[in-house]
Amino acid sequence: MSNTLQWRFRHFNVFSALEWHAMLNMRSRIFVVEQRCPYQDPDDIDPHCWHLEGLLDGELIASLRIAPPGAVYEEVSIGRVAVAPDNRGQSLGRELMVKSMAYAQDLWPNHGLRISGQAYLQEFYHGLGFTTVKGPYLEDDLPHFEMLLS
Ligand SMILES: CC(C)(COP(=O)(O)OP(=O)(O)OC[C@H]1O[C@@H](n2cnc3c(N)ncnc32)[C@H](O)[C@@H]1OP(=O)(O)O)[C@@H](O)C(=O)NCCC(=O)NCCS
Repeated sequence: MSNTLQWRFRHFNVFSALEWHAMLNMRSRIFVVEQRCPYQDPDDIDPHCWHLEGLLDGELIASLRIAPPGAVYEEVSIGRVAVAPDNRGQSLGRELMVKSMAYAQDLWPNHGLRISGQAYLQEFYHGLGFTTVKGPYLEDDLPHFEMLLS
């Protein structure tokens, strides 16, 4: 077993059907089943996004999406941050965020970054430089805060 971690950053348009299925498979397992939250996970925003994937020996274990300015907020937005349960607590969530913040800055310099983060992760996002600007409020029945990186 080589345990090779590979990062892939691509626009929705270039995903194969199988690759996109793996993405939705993981996201719904985490956001719908694990978090016991009946919500619309694949949405109309996905096709406009760039998606960052972490693959361990070819298997998808981490992902998030970056929505361009105007798609969710006026600023760039990062969402659907997910690490598979077996792979948590190894800084992959932090690595996902750090990489995606650099990609966002490359793609849309100086547009700012606004996220709607689950309340239990507020300190995690603060540690990455975000400031809370709104909340808590319920989104899909879960408490969230809106946070800004300017
Ligand atoms: C949130 C998530 C992506 C973190 O992934 P991870 O790889 O375990 O995160 P890391 O190992 O990089 O941890 C980074 C920080 O996240 C925070 N964190 C992670 N899990 C946490 C939890 N269950 N409760 C509170 N803070 C948590 C901690 O501050 C941690 O810092 P530490 O290293 O000082 O403990 C992962 O737990 C996950 O997929 N959760 C379910 C989906 C979700 O809630 N996504 C976020 C939507 S806003």
